[in-house]
Amino acid sequence: MLAETDLAPRRLIQPLFVTEASAPEPIPSLPGLVRTPLAHLGAKCAELASLGIHGVALFPKVDPSRKSNDGVEALNPNALALRAIQAAKAGSPGTVVFADIALDPYTTHGHDGLLTSNGLDVHNDRTVEVLAKMAVLTARAGADFVAPSDMMDGRVAAIRRALDAAGHAGTGILAYSAKYASAYYGPFRDAVGSARKAGEAPISKATYQMNPANRREAIREALLDAAEGADILMVKPGGPYLDILRDLRGATDLPLAAYQVSGEYAMIAAAAAQGWLDLRAARDESLIALRRAGADLILSYFAEAYARDAVRN
Ligand code: PBG
Repeated sequence: MLAETDLAPRRLIQPLFVTEASAPEPIPSLPGLVRTPLAHLGAKCAELASLGIHGVALFPKVDPSRKSNDGVEALNPNALALRAIQAAKAGSPGTVVFADIALDPYTTHGHDGLLTSNGLDVHNDRTVEVLAKMAVLTARAGADFVAPSDMMDGRVAAIRRALDAAGHAGTGILAYSAKYASAYYGPFRDAVGSARKAGEAPISKATYQMNPANRREAIREALLDAAEGADILMVKPGGPYLDILRDLRGATDLPLAAYQVSGEYAMIAAAAAQGWLDLRAARDESLIALRRAGADLILSYFAEAYARDAVRN
């Protein structure tokens, strides 16, 4: 009766990996999760909606043959990501589709943008131009929100301008505003196939993602995104950055999202598989902590399982 915080399924967004394969593909580093075949995606969204989850974040698993140094597949009008948006909306028109905007599923090097000529960094401004075009294709395919996860500077303003100019003033922007250069993204990179091969060091995105040591910078980044026209600001990862979420809650009136990322899911799932943690209790505690810290929306790989249990209670 006196609990200060609740977590209703309507606050949750389910990230879904989408594959062109005909059968669901288990993801070894995300036990219990699969890549959803394109043909099942509409039904999956409808099923989530019946559990009270009305938002999905879509991530395509792009065939390696379609990847290139410049990730030009991102601008293919028939790209898997665009067909996935159409399938989700066709199968579940009320589901709010958040579509990822970044080049990493499409580049052979796995970076979120185009590389500079020496290959040592991303080229911020050339990347922003491509992302703005990608956002227009994404809106045209029916996404309700574009979600730039790339961390280039100035991309929210460029995307907003491009969307408005193309007649998509109603398409929202969920900005990955305070996205840290985190070790917790490992299983995600397996899931979308952007991971290094065994034995190779993971790539560093430290020139564009944030330094985990920094707190004030996160607020600066987020307020810039707000000024550029973002509709929802996101902190990522979630659990290790609750202080950032709390600070941001005090700094803006915009809705806030937190992304409980793949490594956070994998840690709880792995410990529970060993019998060292109670899966359901640790899951629920990790989610309510994000809500308590100030998240209006939570992207979590636990969303479906949480909602199933919530419906049962
Ligand atoms: C890349 C992207 C990443 C995630 C979402 N979009 C990984 C990265 O920055 O390398 C990670 C999400 C997760 O770990 O669950 N644009």
